[in-house]
Amino acid sequence: MRYAHIVGWGKSVPEKIVTNDDLARTVNTSDEWIRTMTGIRQRHIASDKETTASLSTAAAIDALDMAGVPAAQLDLIIVSTVTPDYMFPSTAALVQDALGADNAGAYDLSAACAGFLYALSQAADSIRAGTIHTALVIGAERLSSIVDWKDRNTCVLFGDGAGAVVLKASTQPGGVLTTLLRADGSGGPALYKRQNAAETLQMNGREVFRFATRVMDKSVREVMRRAGWTNDQVDVVVPHQANIRIIDTAAKALGIPMEKFFVNIDRYGNTSAASIPIALCEAVTAGKLKPDDKLVLVGFGGGLTWAAAAVQWLVPPKPVKRSQRVLSRLGYGAAAIRSRARRVLRRLEDG
Ligand code: UT7
Repeated sequence: MRYAHIVGWGKSVPEKIVTNDDLARTVNTSDEWIRTMTGIRQRHIASDKETTASLSTAAAIDALDMAGVPAAQLDLIIVSTVTPDYMFPSTAALVQDALGADNAGAYDLSAACAGFLYALSQAADSIRAGTIHTALVIGAERLSSIVDWKDRNTCVLFGDGAGAVVLKASTQPGGVLTTLLRADGSGGPALYKRQNAAETLQMNGREVFRFATRVMDKSVREVMRRAGWTNDQVDVVVPHQANIRIIDTAAKALGIPMEKFFVNIDRYGNTSAASIPIALCEAVTAGKLKPDDKLVLVGFGGGLTWAAAAVQWLVPPKPVKRSQRVLSRLGYGAAAIRSRARRVLRRLEDG
């Protein structure tokens, strides 16, 4: 039997932080309204130089470094994003070039805030089927580029960033045990962005809120059932970070204590496809996940789409230092990849 384990994780967010008070200077809102209604205190917003590809690449370099996997070992790169820099080439192809991942296939996937779990599912299935051995899965967004900064209903909610994981084949039971992917296109008008570059993201917040609480409950129950877990056995839930009240409502409906839900929405806002991998990365770094823990990931968003995954976490929280030193000597280390990525992405910026 082949299993797909998460063996590396990384994140990258833009330097610039925009607080609720900053927004209250430009639209009719307040720190108190945003914090109470969403749980958000601040978000990171990209500069002109920080692109979806550059954020993706930075997150990927950390994930590869953590995994001790040279870029040349990657068979597949999937980037989930609704804010790619180009219609084509795909963000994944730009990342492939920046990393020097010369043996990888690369494509983008569009499933909005559920997209990272769609991508994780595709990569894990390919590994379990034996088609590939090692994959890089990224969720990345530059939502600031499609938000109407004069619309208080939406501009306070979103942020930019990227998160990445490395998945690797193993005979050791565990890893991504099961995934559930769903869509309901009839709900598309609740959250959309037209192709036309001049138009911004449109959302019916109340409708998305109702949809989100309903599907989080149902899909988490379904992946727990498939994995053979009861809600008492689940150690950590990493949900899409859209609204603290949505997470709270889902926690109550599921009967899983809120302390088991990892929450970082206060610092990043809703980063769509990037929110789950950024949160997962921070949950591991904060020591929330121990080997053998039962982890549930769940996301929902435009499409409408939703997805969940049950993961048995078997990776020790510390990276394997020795193999990293060997990789650095071979020119595969994070520093070598970083300098190549800088060169490649600069060439893109210069057109
Ligand atoms: O990844 C998926 C993407 N989206 C989501 O997950 C969003 C899901 N929805 C939500 O999180 C919530 O619907 C919101 C936080 C967006 C809004 O909360 P709500 O409880 O649904 O409030 P509402 O839209 O019904 O608005 C309540 C009031 C309205 O004023 P009136 O009509 O009652 O006078 C809004 O105009 O709050 C007003 N309002 C604001 N006030 C201050 C809306 N946005 C703001 C704001 N500051 N930023």
